[in-house]
Formats: sequence, C-alpha cells, structure tokens
Amino acid sequence: MNLNKNIVLIGMMGSGKSTIGYLLSKNINFNFLDIDKHIEKETNLKINDIFQKKGEDYFRNLEEKITLKLLKGKGKVISLGGGAFLNKNIRNEVLKNNISFWLSWKSSTIIKRISKSKKRPIAYNSDKDDLKKLINERSNIYAEAQFKINCETLSKNMIIKNIIKLYEEY
Ligand code: S3P
Repeated sequence: MNLNKNIVLIGMMGSGKSTIGYLLSKNINFNFLDIDKHIEKETNLKINDIFQKKGEDYFRNLEEKITLKLLKGKGKVISLGGGAFLNKNIRNEVLKNNISFWLSWKSSTIIKRISKSKKRPIAYNSDKDDLKKLINERSNIYAEAQFKINCETLSKNMIIKNIIKLYEEY
C-alpha cells in the first residue's frame, strides 16, 4: 500500500518533469509542486539570475532546504530540479518516504532539448560533450529511483498512465 505517498519525478533538465508532473497531478487529483518554481518565488529571482548573482553553491543550499521542506506530507506530485537528486540528504529523504520515478531519455534527445538553453545555466555553460558526460554520470544516481520510465517511445499520456499503474501497484 502506498498510502498516498508523494510521487517524485527526477531526471535531467528537459526530461519533462514539470510538464508530466502537472498533467499527472490533474489526473490523480494530487497537488503539484515544482521545486524550481518555489525557489524562484522564495528568492524573487529566476533560476538563471540566482546562479549569476549568488552562485551555484548558494542555489544548491537553497535547493536542499526548500526541497526537504516540500517533500514532507503526502498526496503531492513533486518535480525536482535536475541536480537535486544528486544531493545525498535529498536523495535519502526521497527514497525513504516517497515514491520516485526517473524520466529517462536517450542522451541525444536531452541534449537536443537543452543545448544552449538560456533558462538553464548548467546547460548554457556546457558543450554537447560536457552534457553527454553529465548525463552519463548522473544516470548512475538517477537509477536509484524506485522506478525508471523509458520515455523515448511513449506519448505523454502513456508516460502518465505507466506512472499511475506502477504507483497504484506499489
Ligand atoms: C539543474 C536543473 C534545473 C535547475 C537548475 C539546475 C541541474 O532544473 O534546478 O538550473 O543541475 O540539472 P530542471 O531540471 O527543471 O531544468
């Protein structure tokens, strides 16, 4: 029995965590929380401006604080920032009290989507080889999620259906 545990979506930038998360939440009548949006609200700055004005360390500290706070409770769909699951405290909390889904795509698909994205400082400052390396490194950690969804050949609707099925069976 999953007891209405939160559904946490993880994966690379551009993997559809926010879009899928929003649609999924409507489908199952859960609240939807997009962590990056909460960070932007709390600081009154866009993610890109936080990186530029305050630096990545500042962002990562805030990301940890806000994510750990928002993971509490149940009945929510939560989309994490692409780097959040690399943080051990966040990862432990996600794995202990929530049900997590890794939205996995081919590297080439992700790279096409995020390359030189002005909204995404990590992607903007990396070339294609850097991004490929980053995806490979992170994939080992994303793989710790309870479920991996191979999204490449699925429609949005099918991705959502798969998540709901796995969640209900859990
Ligand atoms: C990041 C991903 C972004 C955002 C920040 C850092 C990352 O979130 O948290 O730019 O390190 O992968 P999205 O995955 O929602 O783009």
